[in-house]
Amino acid sequence: MRRPSGPSGLGLTETDIPAPGPGQVLVKVAAAGINFIDTYRRSGVYKVAFPHVPGSEGAGTVESIGTGVADFSPGAEVAWADSVTGSYADYVIVEADRLIPVPPGLTLDLAAALPLQGMTADYLTRSTYRLAKGDIALIYAAAGGVGQLAVQMALAAGARGLATVGTAAKKAAVSEWGVPLEDIIALSTLADLTTALPRWVRERTDDQGASVVYDGIGRDTFEASLASLKGRGMLVLYGGASGQVPPFDPQELNAHGSLYLTRPKLGDYIATPVELRERAARVFAAAASGALKVAIGHRFALDQAAAAHETLEGRASQGKIILYFS
Ligand SMILES: NC(=O)c1ccc[n+]([C@@H]2O[C@H](COP(=O)([O-])OP(=O)(O)OC[C@H]3O[C@@H](n4cnc5c(N)ncnc54)[C@H](OP(=O)(O)O)[C@@H]3O)[C@@H](O)[C@H]2O)c1
Repeated sequence: MRRPSGPSGLGLTETDIPAPGPGQVLVKVAAAGINFIDTYRRSGVYKVAFPHVPGSEGAGTVESIGTGVADFSPGAEVAWADSVTGSYADYVIVEADRLIPVPPGLTLDLAAALPLQGMTADYLTRSTYRLAKGDIALIYAAAGGVGQLAVQMALAAGARGLATVGTAAKKAAVSEWGVPLEDIIALSTLADLTTALPRWVRERTDDQGASVVYDGIGRDTFEASLASLKGRGMLVLYGGASGQVPPFDPQELNAHGSLYLTRPKLGDYIATPVELRERAARVFAAAASGALKVAIGHRFALDQAAAAHETLEGRASQGKIILYFS
């Protein structure tokens, strides 16, 4: 990327292979995960320095190590998420203390697909609002990357998941994770999302409302999310796929029943190497054992990165999108 732009601004270029400095590792990338944050950086919603190589997640094989690196040696399979940009490239430099070992039984495709959205779903459902039996969680974009994992983690915690999808065609994917079809709503069937979605949630919960709403859509759903909660429930606003939420009056939290609002980000939940490794190990172990399913819905070659972004932003994706390297 040479400047903020639409997907067409993504283009291939050649550079020298970087050398790892002290404490760093050079990784040959096998696959890179596509995430919504890549589109925010590409379009200028989040400020980055240009030229910019996108991509904050991937998996591959250690090529060489810098001085002082003890935990990894050449040939080791590793993954990374959030702490690095530049994953849409054949090689990437990662700080050794931000690398995640890939356990046996996990392919590099899955290891690239999982860490960012997996650790996000993990912190949302375990740390931001710790789900337990009896909780009702409203989860948007449940057929999407974070959504497909958050739904499974909610059910595994004993909570009930109410799920939204854009269109009825995406319902089947969510029901595969164990959500009954009647607990999945296609937003395209609602004339006015702001009033109809909270009404649907209350109908499905004996007028109670949700204990927690996990909202990564933002601008289009914020009002509906507040109105879908029960008193003293928590709105976890963790993204803005439809745009960022404009400034709002905290009295709205009062009016809707002493609600809590938080706007978390992954970086704060994997801030230390210890928390990063612990979260990653839990998510990777669940995937390697088959307890957590990861649907990779779309695979694009590196030179098709623009099409990958269009698919994600156009609401045409299901599950995870990855870039593969030949
Ligand atoms: N705060 C954090 O730590 C953190 C970390 C990772 C991701 N996120 C956020 O989580 C959200 C989901 O990210 P993801 O990578 O997993 O993407 P994703 O859910 O795979 O894709 C986004 C989905 O959002 C839904 N959507 C609803 N309205 C939309 C609109 N106007 N434009 C585009 N999409 C719309 C679409 O699903 P339907 O068509 O089914 O509605 C779309 O498939 C994003 O907001 C992202 O920024 C936050």
